[in-house]
Amino acid sequence: MKMKKTKIGLLGCGAIGEEVALFIDNQLKNKAVLHGICDREEEKSHALKNKLKSKPVICDMENLFKECDLLIEAASIEAANSALKNALKHKKSLIVLSIGALLNNRNLLDLADKKNINIYAPSGAICGIDGVGALSLGNIKTIALKTSKPPQGLVGVNYLKQKNINLLNLKNEMLVFQGGVSEAIKYFPQNINVAATLSLAAGNKNVQVQIYADPKVKTNIHQITIDAQETNISITVKNAPSKNNPKTSAMAILSTQNLLKKIFSSVKIGS
Ligand SMILES: NC(=O)c1ccc[n+]([C@@H]2O[C@H](COP(=O)([O-])OP(=O)(O)OC[C@H]3O[C@@H](n4cnc5c(N)ncnc54)[C@H](O)[C@@H]3O)[C@@H](O)[C@H]2O)c1
Repeated sequence: MKMKKTKIGLLGCGAIGEEVALFIDNQLKNKAVLHGICDREEEKSHALKNKLKSKPVICDMENLFKECDLLIEAASIEAANSALKNALKHKKSLIVLSIGALLNNRNLLDLADKKNINIYAPSGAICGIDGVGALSLGNIKTIALKTSKPPQGLVGVNYLKQKNINLLNLKNEMLVFQGGVSEAIKYFPQNINVAATLSLAAGNKNVQVQIYADPKVKTNIHQITIDAQETNISITVKNAPSKNNPKTSAMAILSTQNLLKKIFSSVKIGS
């Protein structure tokens, strides 16, 4: 019997969206089809469609959710906020990349759980989410995240302008932010998905976040320290940027592709 392919819809045709679309087109073609794509810049949708064999329809968010079974948000926190509402309205599974939206909408996540709607957050740019998830059932005392970025990775962040923090000609590392996860997401929405993912995986625990601008580093470095009754974890991840967006790590793309692979495989490795 021929299996019906899952129709996937993609919101956001940027650095992550493009690579994920190509992966679906090439690696998942027996089980899924990229049915629809949507970007607020229509030329980006057209450029991506031209690179794909599946020739997805270009549509708005509402139609994307109406027509597809599994949706992927790889756009922005605002887009993810609307995508979550649409997932609930149309009872569709959703993979969210702009993780701050999940922290801001915990009530919608509770509703999704009640309605049996699957909401996925890939591990993204970090490792160890499996361990944090396991410890969410144990006794976590503290979670700390130190993120170091090259100064150009923080260009355009409003918080830094408001605080008159000038990163031009920086010679040594500088602590530009210290605070809890909610504040980190508010002030650094595009830079700190990692903190939000850690917090959610830990069962909505706070994460003590420090962000450093460091002219001596070429990549985004995340140092994660977890103190729990059952174990202590220290992880350092040194991420190379993706080829199309220096703010996005190549690992975040691979992690999303791997999540898709896991969803469509009957053998699932790792918790
Ligand atoms: N979870 C993680 O670890 C992780 C890692 C990196 C990036 N991200 C997040 O994933 C998202 C995508 O990252 P990217 O590197 O692909 O970004 P990108 O800027 O390369 O691409 C985003 C695309 O989405 C489109 N877009 C933005 N808002 C939209 C809206 N409201 N409706 C429709 N289209 C919209 C843009 O036009 C752009 O083409 C960002 O929010 C980013 O912060 C998450």
